[in-house]
Amino acid sequence: MNALQRDLKKLVPLVESLGAEKVESDPHRQRFHVQPTVGWLNDPNGLCRIGDTYHVFYQYGPFDATGGVKHWGHVTSRDLMHWEHQPVMLYPDEPFDCHGVYSGSAIVEDGTMYLYYTGNVKHPGDYDYIKQGRGHNVCLATSRDGIHLDSKQCLLYNKDYPTGLTCHVRDPKVFACDGRYYMVLGARTVEDRGEVLVWESADKLHWTCINTLTTPEPFGFMWECPDLFELDGRWFLAVSPQGIECQNVYGCGYFPVYGDWRGACTLGEFRHADFGFDYYAPQSFADGDRRVQIGWMGMPDADYTNPVDFGWQHCLTVPRQLTRDGDRLLQNPVAELAALRGTAHDLPDGETVSAAPCFDLLAAPAGNFTLTVADGVQLAYCEAERSCTLYFTNAAMAYGRTSRHVVLDAPCRRLRVVGDASSLEVFLNDGAAVLSTRYYPAPGPATLCLTGCCGTLYEITL
Ligand code: FRU
Repeated sequence: MNALQRDLKKLVPLVESLGAEKVESDPHRQRFHVQPTVGWLNDPNGLCRIGDTYHVFYQYGPFDATGGVKHWGHVTSRDLMHWEHQPVMLYPDEPFDCHGVYSGSAIVEDGTMYLYYTGNVKHPGDYDYIKQGRGHNVCLATSRDGIHLDSKQCLLYNKDYPTGLTCHVRDPKVFACDGRYYMVLGARTVEDRGEVLVWESADKLHWTCINTLTTPEPFGFMWECPDLFELDGRWFLAVSPQGIECQNVYGCGYFPVYGDWRGACTLGEFRHADFGFDYYAPQSFADGDRRVQIGWMGMPDADYTNPVDFGWQHCLTVPRQLTRDGDRLLQNPVAELAALRGTAHDLPDGETVSAAPCFDLLAAPAGNFTLTVADGVQLAYCEAERSCTLYFTNAAMAYGRTSRHVVLDAPCRRLRVVGDASSLEVFLNDGAAVLSTRYYPAPGPATLCLTGCCGTLYEITL
């Protein structure tokens, strides 16, 4: 252990314990979503299961609720709903990761965790830090018990990447396939085009770049947090592209992959993963037969924000199971959420019902409907246009959020809304379209009013 790691290992728990009381007194503290102990959170990292324990890591800035140098925070769970905080796994404490232990992924072999991540290094000097001055290194950390770090090393430096790229090459997602290991890396070319590099390895340590995945026409300047996985016989490439036209400042979605991504292949039509305000950088993992995906319920560089007076900011989404419908992905909360359903309330058409702040609402609309939550957020569906709009009617709850919409492929016949103390996740038509947002209602029970149809509201009890 080096001296910096030794000191950070003392400092982070100290900062966490000093801030805990204030953080826990926040009425908007989430109940079943992953959130930082104190400070800042962004992308989910290193998702995996070992035995019956799920491990979720996240981009963590313990010293500053508005950002800071990134660590890997760590939580574990048996049911993807109750989360236990663990000590930080990765600190920015080596020359190859000293300005941030950036996003990455996990593979598990014989009980050992292999954590691949980007070591971010900003060299001192007058640089733009895009084309010059930045190291984005592929690093590998290992842990035999899933809690303590055993080793850390740098596997690839910028000099090892193909030519024609800027310094922005990051977010390794590693997986095993056909007896070999593969890694996808997000990249920004010197022409400011986003793409994904595909790497291959026989031993998890030595990597060769074997392919580049991109669109024939430019599609944004950078593709962050790639994920490549097979679902029900079709491969999908998920990315968070920056510099595309969409409702949010950055996009987040997926392409179906036609052909073999190791060689000749093309990317199909890009689809947005989520139409709300707060969704970015998702990562998935294979959990037995199911594929589970978790996103960051936030958006970098957005012009709306979140309160930080209690010393923390941001959370992850509820874990969602992905299923395939042709070239589309459906997202639905994992079954474990329904197991937490407690008291059920009828939601008669037009009547306001008040319930616990954590809820799971189900309805089967047959035409236009409106759902009002906490007298400050509305979801309005227009059957003629098949459009669903999520908008804030109370600015005090919005922190700058205005409205977002989605046009559905089919009439809306299924509505599910998952509420936690400060988030709403709307699932339409069994996960064909999703809208996620943070919101900041007055403390106390949530009030819900559905007009145009009736529904059932289950309180979530933890
Ligand atoms: C996405 C991202 C990643 C990077 C990480 C740094 O939100 O920018 O590309 O690894 O966040 O925190």
